[in-house]
Amino acid sequence: MAEVVYGSEIAADIKAELKKQIEELKENHRRIPKLTVILIGDHAASLSYVKGKERACGEIGMDNELIALPADTSEAELLELIDRLNHDDTVDGILVQLPLPKHINEDHVIYAIAPHKDVDGFHPYNIGRMMMGSPTFLPCTPKGIMEVLKRISLKDLSGKRAVVIGRSNIVGKPIAQLLLAANATVTITHSKTANIKEITKTADLLIVAIGKPRMVDASWIKEGAVVIDVGVNRDENNKLCGDVDFVSAAEKAAYITPVPKGIGPMTIAMLLSNTMDAYREHESE
Ligand code: GUN
Repeated sequence: MAEVVYGSEIAADIKAELKKQIEELKENHRRIPKLTVILIGDHAASLSYVKGKERACGEIGMDNELIALPADTSEAELLELIDRLNHDDTVDGILVQLPLPKHINEDHVIYAIAPHKDVDGFHPYNIGRMMMGSPTFLPCTPKGIMEVLKRISLKDLSGKRAVVIGRSNIVGKPIAQLLLAANATVTITHSKTANIKEITKTADLLIVAIGKPRMVDASWIKEGAVVIDVGVNRDENNKLCGDVDFVSAAEKAAYITPVPKGIGPMTIAMLLSNTMDAYREHESE
């Protein structure tokens, strides 16, 4: 039976540490770090994610502003707002919640955020630095997964086989890069991979970020593997669930992350941590 690894508990430790740092800043009458989140339209899941980010900032005493704009906001208006925030000295981190309405080009928006305020780690500069092994801001979900691995003493993955299911810019591609940097032998699989289970069954570490409710069950998993579930889905009863069939997978895995209370809270904790890093860099200029 697998040990369940609660990202929520690790995230709580990280947030407590950040809260302490912000309290010290307040005691010393210093400026407080600030995250500005932009939400375009009323996409239900995005609204809930954005609320979670606001709540987390509140918990640790970080300054935050939510700029909610209507779905018909033009790309030019959004780019103008980003430009203003790039030049606003009170703002340390800028996050534009994705996905965006179809009339706005996501790449244009990601490119527009100043790399030193890109706490999502999505700008090509930050992605490039990660690829070259001298990272600046790491994307929050992959960074959160690496923190979870550290807590179960899987920091050095020498000799281990890691398999990633999913190839998104937000999770699949960057986590593969971080695992490679940690010495794992990495395979990326996706919806077009042939005989996918034959590959996943070789994994000492399986990262699942495919967006299909409970797709991965015990038959995909090697005995004793570490299984990280990045999925956030609603099942047929509208219940929150991951990409992994938890009950079945837990019988084979050595460690498994649940949904909820797994990787989701780690993503938010890493966003706060990136914002604190942006603040420290900003203050040292
Ligand atoms: N939408 C889903 N995940 C994310 C994320 O990590 N950052 C942003 N900006 N949008 C998202």
